[in-house]
This record gives sequence, C-alpha cells and structure tokens, in this order.
Amino acid sequence: MADRYVLAVDQGTTSTRSLVFDRGGRMVAVRQREHRQYFPRPGWVEHDPMEIWANTRRTAAQVLADVGGAGEVVALGIANQRETTVVWERATGRPVLRALVWQDTRTAELVAELVARPEAPLVRERSGMATAGYFSGPRLRWILEHVPRAQERAERGELLFGTMETWLIWNLTGGPDGGVHVTDVTNASRTLLMDVRTCRWDPDLLAFFGIPAAMLPEIRPSVGVLGVATALPQALPITGALGDQQAALFGQACFAPGEAKCTYGTGSFLLQNTGTELVHTRSGSISTVAYQLAGEPVHYALEGSVAVTGALVQWLRDGLGLIGSAPEVETLARTVDDNGGCYVVPAFSGLLAPHWRGEARGLVAGLTSYVTKGHLARAVLEATGWQTRDVVQAMAADSGLSLPALRVDGGMTTNNLLMQFIADVLDTPVVRPMVGETVSLGAAYAAGLAVGIWSDVEALRRNWHRAAQWTPSRGRAEALDAEYPRWERAVQLSIAWGA
Ligand code: G3P
Repeated sequence: MADRYVLAVDQGTTSTRSLVFDRGGRMVAVRQREHRQYFPRPGWVEHDPMEIWANTRRTAAQVLADVGGAGEVVALGIANQRETTVVWERATGRPVLRALVWQDTRTAELVAELVARPEAPLVRERSGMATAGYFSGPRLRWILEHVPRAQERAERGELLFGTMETWLIWNLTGGPDGGVHVTDVTNASRTLLMDVRTCRWDPDLLAFFGIPAAMLPEIRPSVGVLGVATALPQALPITGALGDQQAALFGQACFAPGEAKCTYGTGSFLLQNTGTELVHTRSGSISTVAYQLAGEPVHYALEGSVAVTGALVQWLRDGLGLIGSAPEVETLARTVDDNGGCYVVPAFSGLLAPHWRGEARGLVAGLTSYVTKGHLARAVLEATGWQTRDVVQAMAADSGLSLPALRVDGGMTTNNLLMQFIADVLDTPVVRPMVGETVSLGAAYAAGLAVGIWSDVEALRRNWHRAAQWTPSRGRAEALDAEYPRWERAVQLSIAWGA
C-alpha cells in the first residue's frame, strides 16, 4: 500500500511554503515562494492577497507533483501569519484593498480612541486580549472607515472578512463559486471580536468595533473538516487550520499544561499551554486559544508576543552594516565577554507583550567610549533574551505554572550564544527538536489527526525528538537577576521617550 502523506501550507509573513509530511513527521517535499512587502507609508505594511493565493496554489501544486506516485496525499492543513486582515467582495473574489499586515501600525490613533472609551475594559474581559493595534479587529474597523461604502456593503453581506487561512480556504474551495467562509478558533481568537470562553463572535464586541456580523466567517475547530480544496490538481479535504504560532505549539507537541515553545524569527512568540481552563491575565501576557479538536473542549494558551528579535539582527546588518550576514552576529558578540554596560531596546514600532505600549521607541542605553561593536552585537542578542524573560515572568504571574523547559524553534535557534543566554536568563533548560519546521508540521499534524493518519496527540508526542539542549550555567542566573533591573530601566526609558 502506498504511504499516506499530508500536505501543509505555511502562509507566513514573508513567504508561502507548501510541504508534504509522512507519518513519521518527516518532510518529503517542500516548495516556497516569497511575496512582495508593500510599505506605502511609514508604519504601513501590506501584502497582495491575490499574490499570496497564487503562491499558495502554485507551491501546493508543485509539491503534489514532486510527491507524484510515491505516496497518496490525503489531507491539507493550513498554518498562517495571524492578525493580517483581508476584506474582499463575495461576488467577484476581489480584495477591496491590500491585506493589512500584523506589523502595520496605522491604527494607532484609532486604538487610542477606542481605549479611551468607557466600555474599553470589555475587550480584555471578553476576548482575553489587550486592545492593541496588533490584532485584526482595529484593522477591520480602519478598512470599514476608509474604503468608500465599505460599511454599508459589509452590512448587506457583499463584503467578507478573513485572516489568511479564511482567505485561502475560501479560494481553495471555489471562491466566488461557493467558497466556504470559515475560520478556525485560534485565528478567530486574534480578532478581539470573539468571546474567548464561548468561542463565538461576541455581539457586544462587534458593537464596540462597529463590525457587521454578516461579513464574518463561521468559527470552526482547528482539527476537523473545514471544506474540500477543489482548486488544486487533486481534490483534498482541508482538515486542519491554526494560526502559525499555535501550529508551532502543536508541532512542538506541547499538549500538557505548562509545556511551552518559543519561535524565534523576525519577532518571537512564546506560547504556554494552560489546558482547558482559561487563565485571566493581569500581567501583560494574553489568553489565546491553543487549539481545538472537533467535538472536544478548547485548549488555551498564554502568549507573550515580541515584535522585534531577529529583526534587530537584520538592522545590525542592513541598517548599521556592522555584520555582513545574520550568523556573523554571534562571531562579533564572541569578541567580548559581556555587554560592556550596553542595552538595546528594539521598540521600533512600540512594544507588545508584556507592555503593550505602541508609542515606545527603540534606544541604546549605557553607551560609553568603552563600548565596541562587539558589545553592541552582544546587547543585540541579549535583547532577545531579556524580552523572553519579560514575557515568561508575566506568564508565570498570570498562570502560576512553572516552566519546566522551553522548546525552541525558528532561525535564531542556530545561535548558540543566544540560546545559552536564554537558558541562563530564564534559569531553565532550552531544547530544540530534530524537526525544525514546527509550524508546518503542526498544520500537518492537525490535518492528519482529523483523517486518522495519527490516532491521537500521544502519537504526535512520540514523534518529538530532541536535537540540542542548553542547560543553565552554574551561578549565572543570580548575576543576571542582579542585572535585570538595568534592562527594565532601559525599557521604561524607551516608553517614556515615545510618550
Ligand atoms: O502574530 C504574527 C505571527 O503569526 C507572524 O508569524 O512567522 O509569519 O512572521 P510569521
């Protein structure tokens, strides 16, 4: 009998990848296409939804051809950049404007107005999230206000809203000719429009943001039948969808309360499974949905989202020209023993968790003539470690759960100096799995579970194998505890600077 495979689409911020996995969780084919980043004004970031749909269709068709007759691809799972907002015409499938990307800060003023309203506390209470421009609700409000006649057309049901998974599923299942308009519960939890307890659109939140219910997709479990993709060379059931960070949590097999992962990319996203109980947040982490299997209760997570980590290394390379390639940051940082008293707060477009201060701006603190580019490189790497500590502390205060170990993935995990610093600053072991493609693996796992490729999450757990571990160095945690208030002071200065 031919092997049974699963197709995963990872629709990310910079590219779209299609991958095929076998039952052992091994990748057997991969194709990738980047899409253009549009920066029409400072702080604005847009993607062309049609380009992303074309890239999805093309890469998926390519991997299906790559696999050929070697095995039978039986299901499709999607993981996607979260919070990126698309609005399109139901009748034609044409977007009313380009997608507003999760990094886009154009809603800052709108958010300030919303936060000032007396009903504003409702948002955190019901959605579990902070009222911040990072989430899709304010972007949708902005679109309805700025695209001529959008509000009335949305109310009449002529316009549809979706994040990337919704847009792709609608197109994959037929588009204007009967496309299925659905989202999964993890992506819906990032809109600020869903009641995080009932996992339904909340009428009071819709009223608060002025969003017509007629334009919203139906909320479905992350694992279960979402539709049938007829727009590919072979018809495939779509049986998994997750926001990419939740997909990474799934791919890292963090199924028990307390288990956590952090994906270190352009930004970094730390999610800790909190089980089927929703945790109330007071310390700046957010309560998000981790995943839901059809017919089972929702599993929740706490999340610490950090906007700038790898992007700071890119800035060292492209903005300052201090390194020629990203991996050189480690070599440069190793030319010195410490940060020389220097701290870099990369609040390039404000600070997300646990501060939620959109007005903060980046700074370099502690400069003296002693500081060299080596110290600066070290401070750049340490900024990722300190920010991880900020979110881990907030999450611990919110959940009371300890962190036995941190599972990591993403491009920055090849940096040994950084991974060791994170283990030291958290005083917690840091572990990296054999399969680094955790986002797409998570999407494949979700889709494969629904069609019986894997029997249950325990089968997925058995696929997880450790490739590397960083253990806290003796005595280092105390020294870093003593240093932490300096970092905190630098963060406060960056907030004050932008105020
Ligand atoms: O919340 C934004 C996050 O989902 C983006 O992830 O990997 O596409 O940059 P990524």
